[in-house]
Amino acid sequence: MKPIFANDAAIDQAADLLRQGRLVAFPTETVYGLGADASNPEAVRRIFLAKGRPVDHPLIVHIPSVASLDAWALSIPQAAQQLAAHFWPGPLALILKKRPEVPLEVTGGQDTVGLRVPDHPVALRLLQAFGGGVAAPSANRFCRISPTLAIHVQEELGASVDMILDGGACQVGVESTIIDLSGSQPKLLRPGHITRDQIEAILQTKLLVTSQIEQADAMQIRVPGMMAIHYAPITPALLCSRGSLPSIIADLIKQGKKIGLLTSYTDIGNESDLGAIIRMPEQADSYARVLYSSLRELDSLHLDIILVELPPQTETWRAINDRLAKATSVYSNVLG
Ligand code: TXA
Ligand code: MG
Repeated sequence: MKPIFANDAAIDQAADLLRQGRLVAFPTETVYGLGADASNPEAVRRIFLAKGRPVDHPLIVHIPSVASLDAWALSIPQAAQQLAAHFWPGPLALILKKRPEVPLEVTGGQDTVGLRVPDHPVALRLLQAFGGGVAAPSANRFCRISPTLAIHVQEELGASVDMILDGGACQVGVESTIIDLSGSQPKLLRPGHITRDQIEAILQTKLLVTSQIEQADAMQIRVPGMMAIHYAPITPALLCSRGSLPSIIADLIKQGKKIGLLTSYTDIGNESDLGAIIRMPEQADSYARVLYSSLRELDSLHLDIILVELPPQTETWRAINDRLAKATSVYSNVLG
């Protein structure tokens, strides 16, 4: 299935496909989503089949506006109203107690549901034309890098999706911030473009932020974005501090390895010995926008290893550090 330019006619056709229980990939401001009618369990099951994702991993339901919250969530806390009023449409997903009608297929069997209003004209137009909620995980195979271009969706899921709406490159580039408001205290489940500080400023309270993996273990739920091996390229990838880069590169070159490097450092001595180098922006927002497409590009070059320079360890870079840790950690013994 080739991507189709998302004009009004294509979007109307996509809404029809959703009504028929088919799968439509569509752009959001974060990453491309793989959408199905969230009220149709059969359609939702198709998402899991297409992604190869275990069925107990919950999906985010995309809704056209704050006004639709009531159709999906029960006893909406004031915190949800405040965050929705402030950040929707936008890259923020809220976890709330679900209404009984919300299919368990969507929520991975849990009594909570993830909801967000995406900030992308194509996504909003599609949601309005469809008129219901669209369950949509990132449109990639399970545990792979999320797509930020329509062509990425074609490469990963081409045969199993009924339509791919092309709305250009995603402007945020990493998945939404997820805040769990279903318990007694708000929790940050996944960092994103909207930072912890921004959320805390609106709520006037601190967010609970435990190690994501610990938290998933404690809650005994399977949440894919929280698994250690998520968002990973196939080529082994290693996260290195700027200071350690020259010696690691020299060692790998001695071993005859073909190296790909993702860095914002300009002074790499033996650059001509590298298989490929991608210069990353120095601002977090711009870095996030190109992160996944850069990893994909390096992954396509048949390199032996991808080295990623560790970005600054500050709050603005939290979402990027989170995704990089997941893209690289499993291969951290590659030099051994
Ligand atoms: O930016 C995004 O959120 C993108 C675009 C397409 O909207 N979607 C996305 O979906 O990243 P996905 O399925 O790849 O990640 C959704 C995350 C998963 O980690 C999932 O476990 C979590 O949201 N989630 C969804 N519902 C949940 C719930 N009821 N409780 C806890 N976590 C939930
Ligand atoms: Mg995903």
